[in-house]
Amino acid sequence: MVKNLFKISDLSNDEILYILDMATKFKSTLKNFKFSDEKFIANLFFEPSTRTHYSFVSAQLSLGMKIIDPNLSFSSILKGESLYDTAKTFESIGANALIIRDKKDEYFNDLDGINISIINAGDGCGHHPSQCLLDLLTIKEEFGHFDGLNVSIIGDIKHSRVANSNASALKSLGANVYFSAPKIWQKDGNYLDIDKCVEISDVVMLLRVQNERLDKNEGLNLSNEEYLNKFGLNKKRYSKLKPNAIIMHPAPVNRGVEIDGDLIECEKSRIFKQMSNGVLARKAILKWIFE
Ligand code: CP
Repeated sequence: MVKNLFKISDLSNDEILYILDMATKFKSTLKNFKFSDEKFIANLFFEPSTRTHYSFVSAQLSLGMKIIDPNLSFSSILKGESLYDTAKTFESIGANALIIRDKKDEYFNDLDGINISIINAGDGCGHHPSQCLLDLLTIKEEFGHFDGLNVSIIGDIKHSRVANSNASALKSLGANVYFSAPKIWQKDGNYLDIDKCVEISDVVMLLRVQNERLDKNEGLNLSNEEYLNKFGLNKKRYSKLKPNAIIMHPAPVNRGVEIDGDLIECEKSRIFKQMSNGVLARKAILKWIFE
């Protein structure tokens, strides 16, 4: 059976915990694991990416996979070829799986008929399951569980695929999920003032203001400093965090906007830890997909 990973809600809690456990084992018993047979994988990134793209590459190299990593600014997409025909082409030339990022929400609904595995590396404002798994891994390493944890997701909720995926999985695993955002970027959910989130949270998860996705009516007309002091994690709020609270951010970060630049590598920040965990989580996803 061909396995795909489109949305985190495609996985049961048991499957999520299995993948997280495997990710952890990539630091110990699975440290030297390589696929025994040849696996070709194609990385199709139609939107910019640093962390997701290259942590997948790092994971693939470490697992002994053969990688097709095309520069898509020179692909036949520019001549009008569809995503389906592009994916079918990589299947035809020997790829065993595709990693795809695209700006269209739920682009994977257009890919019925592709007979190799597809791992969603981010679809528009939709889903980001591999980011979610690395975030869950980071939280589990810190607290050992999810049940009863207070997790606040703060910032540009409306355009965030990370918010969608993380809220869905965290709720399913028993965490209490709160949001904080300017009114114009709110969706469904339990919204609190940022100061309340800071006071009660075990995990404060900040989100980037996604300027590239804002319609012209969705801007806030605030300076960076005004945004930080109204809606972001500044130093005053940092001093009010619970003693064991951690700060997360999927990155890239707008320094001095959603978080004070000096806090990015502070004691409570796990932002670069998330990136290291991204390689472990993506190794586990790749192994799981071929099991
Ligand atoms: N967090 C994340 O998806 O980063 P990239 O856009 O750099 O992949």
